[in-house]
Amino acid sequence: MAVIFRVRGTRDLLPPETDLWNSVERTARSVFVRYGFGEIRTPIFEDTQLFARGVGEETDIVSKEMYTWEDRARAESERAQSLTLRPENTAGVVRAYIEHKLNDTGMLQKLFYIGPQFRRERPQRGRYRQFWQIGAEVLGPAWSGAESSLRDAELLEMLATLLNELGVRGWRLELNSIGSATDRPRYIAALREALAPIKDRLCEDNRRRAETNPLRILDSKAPEDQALIETLPKIADFLDEESTEHFKQVLAALDACQVPYHVNSRLVRGLDYYTRTTFEFTVPDGSGLGTQNALLGGGRYDGLSEILGGPKAPGIGFAIGEDRLILTLQAQAEKDQVLPERKLDAFIAPMGIAQNAAALALAKELRSAGISLELGDGMFRLRKSFETADKLAHRMVIVGEDEVKSGIFTIKYFAAGEQSKVPHADLASALKASAAPATS
Ligand code: HAM
Repeated sequence: MAVIFRVRGTRDLLPPETDLWNSVERTARSVFVRYGFGEIRTPIFEDTQLFARGVGEETDIVSKEMYTWEDRARAESERAQSLTLRPENTAGVVRAYIEHKLNDTGMLQKLFYIGPQFRRERPQRGRYRQFWQIGAEVLGPAWSGAESSLRDAELLEMLATLLNELGVRGWRLELNSIGSATDRPRYIAALREALAPIKDRLCEDNRRRAETNPLRILDSKAPEDQALIETLPKIADFLDEESTEHFKQVLAALDACQVPYHVNSRLVRGLDYYTRTTFEFTVPDGSGLGTQNALLGGGRYDGLSEILGGPKAPGIGFAIGEDRLILTLQAQAEKDQVLPERKLDAFIAPMGIAQNAAALALAKELRSAGISLELGDGMFRLRKSFETADKLAHRMVIVGEDEVKSGIFTIKYFAAGEQSKVPHADLASALKASAAPATS
């Protein structure tokens, strides 16, 4: 029979790698709690219109990358509906905000999520068709302070803290203001005007963007177009007074809490809902990501709730590419030559099949006392028990006929090459202690 393989662009995450995923998520959750965030879990699929309207029809995500299907009605009471696997989570969070009337609480909503997203991109290192995001959104009615520049700076400061606590080295925060919903059309008009005489000299991709989405030319990496792109008008010159002041305040608050940043006037991001502050955190070349060096991205979306038919509810958020974060941490650990060690507290080795039942009873008792352990099998020869135990655990407990009768067990400590005899009542505490005892 032919073997069935995983689908292109998807991944299996196996132990011990999943230990790192869990520890990253634990750190993220603990930081989110300290900053007053609560967890939200939205469905993995949504009405296609949510993304078409929220993320934008013209974006790469919506026009090329979504997994969309026509969901047939199964009963007369149902209607057929176009559904899409979520390519990102912000639109889903804002939909839930509207649907559950969270605006009526009058309070700022601070929500985080951890979960898979789906985009039909060309797979490569750091870019997958199912990938994970750790993200957070802060939104609320204008009177809750959701529009304040303080929220932007606080979110960015939280991200710097999170990356530092995770041990990510060399991260770089780039940010920009892309202005309000009224600044942008003025800028895009100026951009089109400046592009008209030069667009034929751009590469094919950028020539197409000049027609469909000229903002995207700004974050083009095509080396042959860079000199021309540098001559294009800058969005900073098209911001109204309010947006300029808002951005200044964000930068001043970042200075006050010593979060380093670089203003990048070409950072526009690939989703249509952004207004004002937009940002990305990148890691240096050689951090394990290849060309996909954006670890996370985000920004303000002051008009998204209204685009989705909701009340005015300005907001700001980000999403970390968890796959990329893990690749970065793994590459750093490799450079530092720290290999993750994953060993259990103990291995229980029954000596003969007749001891299996007693060994299982002992294992149950020790596990409920909080000891992590693996249970061997009485059919193993002693040598096989030793070898397996040494691979899996720090210590081995021998369960032979004599031990069961006398209630005195032998613990073998692999690292120290020692062994000791311990009465049944003291086993759990002996196995919890990290090193071998001084006397045996
Ligand atoms: P995004 O920039 O599309 O923004 O994605 C955020 C992060 O997800 C990226 O920086 C990257 O690390 C990761 N990512 C994106 N696509 C892939 C992929 N195919 N494979 C692996 N990782 C990927 C958003 O999704 C916005 N919803 C962020 C946001 C939240 N803005 C406001 N609130």
